[in-house]
Amino acid sequence: MKSNTPIPKKGQAAEALLSQLEALKEKDINWRGGRNFAYVYYAGEETLEAVRAAYNMFFSENALNPSAFPSLKRLEREVVQMTADLFHGSAQACGSITSGGTESILMAVKSAREWARKHKPEIAIPEIVLANSAHPAFHKACHYFGIRARVVEVDKDYLASPKGFETAINANTIMLVASAPSYPHGLVDPVEKIATLAQSNGLLCHVDACVGGFILPFLKMEGYPIPAFDFSVAGVTSISADIHKYGYAAKGASLIIYNQEELHKSQFYVYSDWSGGIYASPSIQGTRPGGSIAAAWMALHYLGLEGYRKLARKSMETALLFRKIAKETAGIEVIGKPDCTIFALTSDDSDIYELGDELSQFGWYMDRQQLPPSLHFTITPAHATLVDQWQTDLETASAKARKGNLQKLGKKAQIGLIRGMKKSLPKSWMSRLQQWAGQRLSVESGGRQAAMYGMIGELQGEGDLDELVKTMLFRMINEENA
Ligand SMILES: Cc1ncc(COP(=O)(O)O)c(C=O)c1O
Repeated sequence: MKSNTPIPKKGQAAEALLSQLEALKEKDINWRGGRNFAYVYYAGEETLEAVRAAYNMFFSENALNPSAFPSLKRLEREVVQMTADLFHGSAQACGSITSGGTESILMAVKSAREWARKHKPEIAIPEIVLANSAHPAFHKACHYFGIRARVVEVDKDYLASPKGFETAINANTIMLVASAPSYPHGLVDPVEKIATLAQSNGLLCHVDACVGGFILPFLKMEGYPIPAFDFSVAGVTSISADIHKYGYAAKGASLIIYNQEELHKSQFYVYSDWSGGIYASPSIQGTRPGGSIAAAWMALHYLGLEGYRKLARKSMETALLFRKIAKETAGIEVIGKPDCTIFALTSDDSDIYELGDELSQFGWYMDRQQLPPSLHFTITPAHATLVDQWQTDLETASAKARKGNLQKLGKKAQIGLIRGMKKSLPKSWMSRLQQWAGQRLSVESGGRQAAMYGMIGELQGEGDLDELVKTMLFRMINEENA
C-alpha cells in the first residue's frame, strides 16, 4: 500500500543524494547499450554532452515572458526558422517550441478550432478526420478541446486512406490529419492526396511528423525515396516535429510550425483581466524551460546538416539490416513497407508477444502493439554495432517462442480463465472482472508481457477497457512493486 513520506527534516549532502539517484537508475533501460528500441534517441556521448551543456546553461531561465529573456526569444525564433526552412516553409511560416509531440499536436488542434470558430461559425462541434494509426495525442486534443475525432481504418497497406477520408468529411470537418510516418508501423501516409482533399474542401491539413520530422528530410538528402510530406505539398497547413526524438535535443522540445500567421496566433492564450497583469502565453505551458530551448538550438548548430545526414544514413542502413534479418526469420513479418527507421514485426502463425518476451530475456526492450498484435522497433545510431547480436538473439528467441513451456501454459490458463468468465458472467460483472485483471496484471506480469497482452486482447470491446488500463496505471504510479 502507498504511504506518505515526509520531506527530510534536514538537508542532505548532494554527493550522497546523487549516488542514490545513480543507484535508482540501475533498473532503468540501458539506452546507451543499443538494446533499447523506445523512448531515447542517442547520437553518442559528444552530442549528448554538447546538448547537455546548453541545457544546463539555461537551466533556470524561463521563456514564458520573451521580454525578460531576449536570449531565449532569439534561440526559439532561430530554431523555428531553421525547422521551417527544413520543411520548405514560405516566408510566412512561423511557430513555437513546445514541451513535446503531444503539446504540438494539442496546439495544432486548438488552433484549428479557433480558426473554425472564425471561418466556419456555423459548426457547433468541429470534427477532425484521422486514421486509426494516428497518434493518441489527437484524441487527447479532441477530449480536451471538445472536438470530435472521425477515425478512418487504414487501408490494406496500413496507410491512411484518402478514399476513407473523403467519405468521413462532412459539414463539421475542420482538419485532416496525416502522419509522416505513423508511429505504430513507420509508414508515411499519402500526404499529397490528403492535403489535396483538404484544399479542395476548404479544410486545414496537419502533418504529424513528430517522429519523422528530423530524419525524413535528411534521408531524402541522402538519396532514399522519401514521399513528400512537408510544406512543399500544397494544402499542408501545419506540421509537428519533435526535436527531442531524431533531433537528438534534450527531452521537452518539439516544434509546431504553421504556414500562416493566423494559425499561429490562434494557438495563443490571453487573459487580460487578472490582477497580476495581462497574461499572454503562446502554448499550454506557463513556465517554459529555457534549457530545452537552448538544447534544441545547440543540437541543430552542433550537428548541422552534415551531422544529421550522417546519423540518418547510419540509422537507416542499420534499420534495413535489422528488418532484413527479421524477414528472413521463419514466421516473422514486417508490417507494410516502412519508409524510414521505424518498423513493426508481426506473425500470422505464432504469438508475437511470446517473441517479445523471449527477446526481453536477452535484454532487448521494445513496446508491444495491438490491432494487429506486433512488436515496435525504433532504430537509432545506437543499434549500428548490434546487427550480428540481433541476428543471433532473434533466431534463438524465435525458436523458443514457438516451443511450449510452463510460462506459456500459465498464460494460456489465465487467458482461458478470462475467456470462460467473460462468457458466463453477466455484463454488469465485467467491470469487476476487469478490476481483478487490472490488479493481477500489473503485479504479476514479472517482466513477461505476453499474458498481459493476451488478457487485454480478450477484454477488448467488453465493458470499459479504459477503466482496466486506468487501474493498472494508477497502481504502477502509486505502488512500489507494481
Ligand atoms: C507520430 C507521433 N506523434 C506524436 C507523438 C507524441 O510525442 P510525445 O511523446 O513527445 O508527446 C509521437 C511519439 O512517439 C509520435 O511518434
